[in-house]
Amino acid sequence: MAGRIPQQFIDDLINRADIVDVVDSRVALKKRGKEHIACCPFHNEKSPSFTVSQSKQFYHCFGCGAHGTALSFIMEYERLDFVDAIEVLAAEYHIDVPREQGNFTPQQDDKKPLYEILENAAIRFATELKDTPRAIDYLKQRGLSGEIAKDFQMGYAPDSWDFTSGQYSKDQADKAACLKSGLSIEKNPQKHYDRFRDRIMFPIRDRRGRTIGFGGRILDKGEPKYLNSPETPVFHKGEELYGLYEARQSVKELNRIIIVEGYMDVVALAQHGIKYAVATLGTATSSTQISKLFRTVPELIFCYDGDAAGKKAAWRALENSLSILRDGVQARFLFLPDGEDPDTLIRQEGQENFEQRLNKAMPLADFMLQHLSESLDLSSADGCARLSEKAKPLISKISEGVFKDLLIAQLSKTIGLSSASLQQHIPESQTPSKNRTDTRGKNKNITSEKYKVSMTPTRLAIALLLQFPSLAKECEIPEQLSTSEMPGLSLLIQIHKIILQTETSSPSVLLERWRNTDDAAIINKLMQLDIPESKKETQLASLNDAFKNLLHKHRGLRLQELLNKSRTADLSPEEKIELSLLYQS
Ligand code: UTP
Ligand code: MN
Repeated sequence: MAGRIPQQFIDDLINRADIVDVVDSRVALKKRGKEHIACCPFHNEKSPSFTVSQSKQFYHCFGCGAHGTALSFIMEYERLDFVDAIEVLAAEYHIDVPREQGNFTPQQDDKKPLYEILENAAIRFATELKDTPRAIDYLKQRGLSGEIAKDFQMGYAPDSWDFTSGQYSKDQADKAACLKSGLSIEKNPQKHYDRFRDRIMFPIRDRRGRTIGFGGRILDKGEPKYLNSPETPVFHKGEELYGLYEARQSVKELNRIIIVEGYMDVVALAQHGIKYAVATLGTATSSTQISKLFRTVPELIFCYDGDAAGKKAAWRALENSLSILRDGVQARFLFLPDGEDPDTLIRQEGQENFEQRLNKAMPLADFMLQHLSESLDLSSADGCARLSEKAKPLISKISEGVFKDLLIAQLSKTIGLSSASLQQHIPESQTPSKNRTDTRGKNKNITSEKYKVSMTPTRLAIALLLQFPSLAKECEIPEQLSTSEMPGLSLLIQIHKIILQTETSSPSVLLERWRNTDDAAIINKLMQLDIPESKKETQLASLNDAFKNLLHKHRGLRLQELLNKSRTADLSPEEKIELSLLYQS
């Protein structure tokens, strides 16, 4: 095992890298004003909406929403994980990557043999299928044609302990690579045997079409019904989707994608002309998967059984979608009749009827309100209050925009309150975002007005520090705020601290520090806020203004808190002093 890469090294590397070079060497950039632009490499477009900012060390596509640092760009563009992307970036600057302990073995080529082994296995399984009448019969009996089997490169793993592992048993490195690919299992150091035996094989392919893992179904009755590849360096269940590659291959312009539960559902739908279904790999649909899909299409339809388990899975998908929803995309839910799955249903009723169901799928807002209202009596004031309590934390996860406004309007209609009074009760979004249209020039005034409205002192202070880290050493966060529980404050304080610690002047160092944390989304959004370029003194004044506002707000809240308490209990001597001080300030 290679040791950890020291944080210090990552900070330095990111400080040193220039995103303009990194992007430009892969996608030619044109300079326009202070930004660099190109046609977005992450979605199809004819006119450029992909921008790279040298000062922020950040890229952002106004078309598809892709954004991030130089490192994220390498990860996305070259489909690498974090560590590999660090290696690539370091190599571009001719620096070796140090490791914290142990010997460092280069990781660069680690994955190549795995892809080869997996690809080779997929080909051999497919050939094997052609020679196995029992397996062919099974697929026929499930209504699948040879053509569809071919599109999905379906195969058959024979009932053998060494069909695959035997290919790699002579050389130690090959043997180890086969084990790592997940295709073999180690009984003891001498003896490795095949994981998949006597199963119909579904190769799982990544966006580029490389085979990264397999699902294998038993032909007859038996346990487990499906066996999946384990997590490997090239296969991460929570991120991949079965059928996405195939959907992109067979539909020229994908405009919607259905998410189903099983391999067979994807294949059966394709067999009946619905070639835009994908399946999660035996896990709940993750945010990573959802944002990957929204990068590909503007509409997702989650398709589940109508039973309790299906509802539960749908609800988790809804929760994982909220922070990703933005104007211009939509998620809907289709619940199937009891006991049916897409495979059985499409075979009974065919493409047209199934697509009619899809067209009538329930909008996310309806599903959310319906689910939350279950077991509540909405004819009573109490029931309505409970509904709005339950909806608030969910709605607050959605970015500011038309969709959120409509959802609030719908909720208020359901409970018979005016939107305006309801809006007051909804906490600020965790993910403020500018309305996407304003950046294209239309409605500039209206939306920038809106942007001001949704701005809060905390957000402004965080955005200023993120985008201009050098301000940190010239300002001080008021001591009193360190105990405040106002949302976002602890993040603000942390960011300030890290800038002082790392002495960084590059915003991307901060973004990387928060990668994969709960606050990553808000930090990314605030990074993208357009703060007008101005003199350092002006920025510093805005920052100090923000602190002043926060202090004022904090005092107001604390005053209220102490007053409330004094009505029902005695205040301690310290609290009394605090109260009188608050009165005076
Ligand atoms: P289901 O049990 O609903 O099976 O599993 P299915 O898709 O209807 O399969 P058929 O029609 O009987 O062939 C749905 C998904 O859950 C995962 C697989 O990804 C499967 O496609 N699963 C299921 C497993 O990983 N292991 C299992 O043993 C069962
Ligand atoms: Mn099924």
